[in-house]
Amino acid sequence: PTFDDFEGHGVWRYAAALPFEAGVSIQEGATPLYEVPRLEDEIGIEALRIKHEGMNPTGSFKDRGMTVGVQVAKELGVGRLACASTGNTSAALAAYGTRGDMETLVLLPAGKVAAGKIAQASLHDARILEVDGNFDACLDIVQELAAKGEVYLLNSLNPFRLEGQKTIGLEILEGFLTDYDTVPDRIVLPVGNAGNTSALYKAFRELVQAGELDEDDVPKLTGVQADGAAPMVEAIENDADEVRRWDDVETRATAIRIGNPVNAPKAIPGIRETGGTAVAVSDEEITDAQRALAREGIGVEPASAASVAGLRKLRASGVVDDDERVACLTTGHLLKDPDAAAAAGGDPEPVPADTDDILEHLQQ
Ligand code: F0G
Repeated sequence: PTFDDFEGHGVWRYAAALPFEAGVSIQEGATPLYEVPRLEDEIGIEALRIKHEGMNPTGSFKDRGMTVGVQVAKELGVGRLACASTGNTSAALAAYGTRGDMETLVLLPAGKVAAGKIAQASLHDARILEVDGNFDACLDIVQELAAKGEVYLLNSLNPFRLEGQKTIGLEILEGFLTDYDTVPDRIVLPVGNAGNTSALYKAFRELVQAGELDEDDVPKLTGVQADGAAPMVEAIENDADEVRRWDDVETRATAIRIGNPVNAPKAIPGIRETGGTAVAVSDEEITDAQRALAREGIGVEPASAASVAGLRKLRASGVVDDDERVACLTTGHLLKDPDAAAAAGGDPEPVPADTDDILEHLQQ
């Protein structure tokens, strides 16, 4: 296969579950499902694996959605692709858009996007608008631009994006079946717009319908949000049918700094019907989890660490049992947000360029 129409690899290995045989591809998917023995022990569960989506071409799971979504845009012959973004979607759209030879426009909340993500969008040739407003306002505007026919929308409201993201769930199930001969009891994932929650639920429903997965074996979908941006958690806890939009949101995990999770109508039934739940964690708990993953050699951005922080919390409160086999989804790479990583780590120690001085320094 050529690089452009890479068939049978990663996301496209699951073409039977997708609307096309191949897409605009940069070899996305087939990400690692890491063992984390120390974390597994510390949390106290039967098995814990980390599905690290930061190992995709642009460093987040968004690539899985873009390979399908940008293919649709290409087939439709649309002129300009656009998204609102907390950063990762813009990086992926820029890369896949330019690979597919299309113009891209991204709307970012000014001052609230991690440095690595803006650098990617810029270098991959997107036109970047820094909006004086939060992500939810950016998404409102880009939806209006799409409704006026100015742009083709590639946020997770676009159902073709979610088709590609279904493959995260398929890879997790395959990995567990290979290693444990059973699917995971639970999948814990960070929630922003709840696109992944919706996509995984759709993947599992399709498997059940196809007779490939027993209804009772569908993993419990468990969403994690930051305390300062937790409208989904509020809705699940209150057993509400609708999510209340939060106008003021704040968290160090800027990727999930979202007050109006647009896929909630599809994601909430997924959480409820699989017997899952949703939990909110503090920024401190997120950073602690980011450090714990880093100690296992796994570098993730803050939003990603929310999954592990949420699992810790649910295990401590007894919601998660000690006999569970769990997959945590880590959605983006550490280098996406170098400032957060540096703040969570220690400072370098300045020393003179002299071996004896350094030896003396090391004694201290
Ligand atoms: N984790 C990361 C690293 C993300 O970038 C996002 C979403 C999420 C989790 C939430 O995923 O929406 O499927 O619940 N980022 C979007 C963006 C909003 O613009 O990059 P979800």
